[in-house]
Amino acid sequence: EGIGEPWILSRIRTIPDFPKPGIKFRDITTLLNDARGFRKAVDELVQPYVGVAIDKVAGIEARGFIVGGAVAHQLTSGFVPMRKKGKLPHATIGQSYDLEYGTDTLEIHEDAIAHGDLVLLVDDLLATGGTADAAVELIEKAGGKVVAACFVIDLPDLGGAQRLRDRGVDVISLCQYHGA
Ligand code: PRP
Ligand code: MG
Repeated sequence: EGIGEPWILSRIRTIPDFPKPGIKFRDITTLLNDARGFRKAVDELVQPYVGVAIDKVAGIEARGFIVGGAVAHQLTSGFVPMRKKGKLPHATIGQSYDLEYGTDTLEIHEDAIAHGDLVLLVDDLLATGGTADAAVELIEKAGGKVVAACFVIDLPDLGGAQRLRDRGVDVISLCQYHGA
């Protein structure tokens, strides 16, 4: 049911009915746990940007920190943690987004992104795109330019990739799963 190369699909674990009945949770801890799998995933995310002047990689809490930190290291870029509200110690700017129930807020330090910085956005998974859309909004509010948004997994039926492309953001994912 997954679309992608065998090396990655074979390393992603699907947990039925987590966190709620009817949801198939795509678990990347098994990919991260595998030395060759983790390296190959990072290499493939980085590959389009080798030789491109990426100033900052922005990773979305929590799993986007793991993948984004490795991508930033490989590209020799700075790393910007996009955190859930209230976690960052210095002055912040934030952007709220809708969840299934209620809202959440992403924050970055107000000085984390300089005007004109080229920023690569990284997260583990793209679903409805609410989280990534808020992240793009926040990066642009800070004066950054989003070069692309990169994900290990995209769930295209939930519309996130289309939502980001509609606002002019390039979307890259290593594999896709149809159905919710
Ligand atoms: C998951 C996932 C993405 C987001 C995608 O994070 O890691 O960040 O949902 O969903 P969306 O495209 O519908 O916005 P979650 O909010 O579960 O938090 P976590 O990463 O901190 O576990
Ligand atoms: Mg997340």
